[in-house]
Amino acid sequence: MITVSLISLGCAKNLVDSEIMVGHLHQAGMRVIPEAENADVVIVNTCSFIDSSKEESIGHILEVHQHRGMTKRRKEQKLIVAGCMAQRFSKDLTTSLHDEVDAFIGLDQVTKVAPIIEELFAKAREKNAAPVSFVAGRSTYIPDYDTPRFRLTPKHFAYVKIAEGCNHPCTFCIIPQIRGRHRSRTVASVVAEARQLVAEGVKELNLISQDTTFFGMDTWDERPNPRSPVNSARGTALTTLLRELNAIPGDFWIRLLYTHPAHWSDELIRTIAECPKVARYIDIPLQHISDRMLEKMQRETSGAYIRDLIGRIRTGIPGIAVRTTFIVGFPGETDADVDELCEFIREAKFDRLGVFRYSQEEGTRAARMEEQLSSKTKEARWHRTMSLQKEIASQVSQAAVGRTLRVLVEEPGVARGEADAPDIDGRVYVPRELAVGEFADVKITGFHDYDLLALPAGAKPDEWKIARPAQ
Ligand code: F3S
Repeated sequence: MITVSLISLGCAKNLVDSEIMVGHLHQAGMRVIPEAENADVVIVNTCSFIDSSKEESIGHILEVHQHRGMTKRRKEQKLIVAGCMAQRFSKDLTTSLHDEVDAFIGLDQVTKVAPIIEELFAKAREKNAAPVSFVAGRSTYIPDYDTPRFRLTPKHFAYVKIAEGCNHPCTFCIIPQIRGRHRSRTVASVVAEARQLVAEGVKELNLISQDTTFFGMDTWDERPNPRSPVNSARGTALTTLLRELNAIPGDFWIRLLYTHPAHWSDELIRTIAECPKVARYIDIPLQHISDRMLEKMQRETSGAYIRDLIGRIRTGIPGIAVRTTFIVGFPGETDADVDELCEFIREAKFDRLGVFRYSQEEGTRAARMEEQLSSKTKEARWHRTMSLQKEIASQVSQAAVGRTLRVLVEEPGVARGEADAPDIDGRVYVPRELAVGEFADVKITGFHDYDLLALPAGAKPDEWKIARPAQ
């Protein structure tokens, strides 16, 4: 029996692709094992978002290759590179990783991984032959509810890829060139998958795509007007999907990740407010607030639009936690732009915030812009914005003390609230006795930077011990 080990890098979208590959390997009778050193085949599912992700991907490939040849079995081990880096750079990598890699597969070959492995074993590679590339053109694949898939997340939460690809023209981003044009699944397909996951005991469905708010809009005849109250009348929209998911019986959260500010509507705000299973949390990458920067980044939004939208979301969905990300050090960014951004961060008091230093990515329009800034400037701006957010995060955590929250217990002593997405946001430290994978009502007793400390609601403090985070 062929044994395969898979190293999954990058974001949750790539993780779903890994899950699909593992599902197909199982279906083909192959055994998937955690230890790369004991496998007949190692697949590295790569990320190519920014330079550091590419370096990490290459590092893993070289490491796997270096360990080959130590035993007979491993001498014959095949190394396959999949994912975003393979999709985007397989031509160049065929030369630069000539000796290390046996094959490259693209995003549309995740369901064909088993026959590809069989083919590699059937045809002996000639000495000095180049790696075989199975990458075929622009990506168009989208999974369905019955696509074989083996979940790699804990039993209690799952990622649900509702669409793939991206139609936005952001000048800094390479992902549309890698993942292709936006294509949505049908509402029926996503609902069928969600029903199955809830039946398996999943307590949190994390909806993902490149732009979750664009869900269904690719099937409309006219260009959508995000402010229109009748958006969904023109066809499927995220609002239709959320209402159907909310109607599935059971106790679970629906979490919206990767929403684009340009496609929010009053109808979406109303829908979230009216669907109690949709977590009071939104992930809405804004990238900047200065009009000059938003224009250069081609974010299809303006500072005034963003300020108004955040206000409407907070008024329309009481208790919502807003998570965003910004980019500092974009070409041409001035001190005045950063002052405006800091002022906005102070004003908006985001519940969760991440800041990226701009990375000049080959193949993007921003990479060709003049006025690229030095790493020193980017670093200084990153420190300025992050230290500001650290103060705000303390205020946000302080305000939570004394409140009762519903949390989902992740592992012994560690839980997450509605305001915390898996692997991205903070944690709630709770007594180790609380059952893993279950919801619990807890009272916040203190905080530690971005994390909260809590006891079961109604408990006496001396009855329980909280597993505090390491200092
Ligand atoms: Fe994700 Fe990295 Fe690809 S962030 S979409 S795995 S480039």
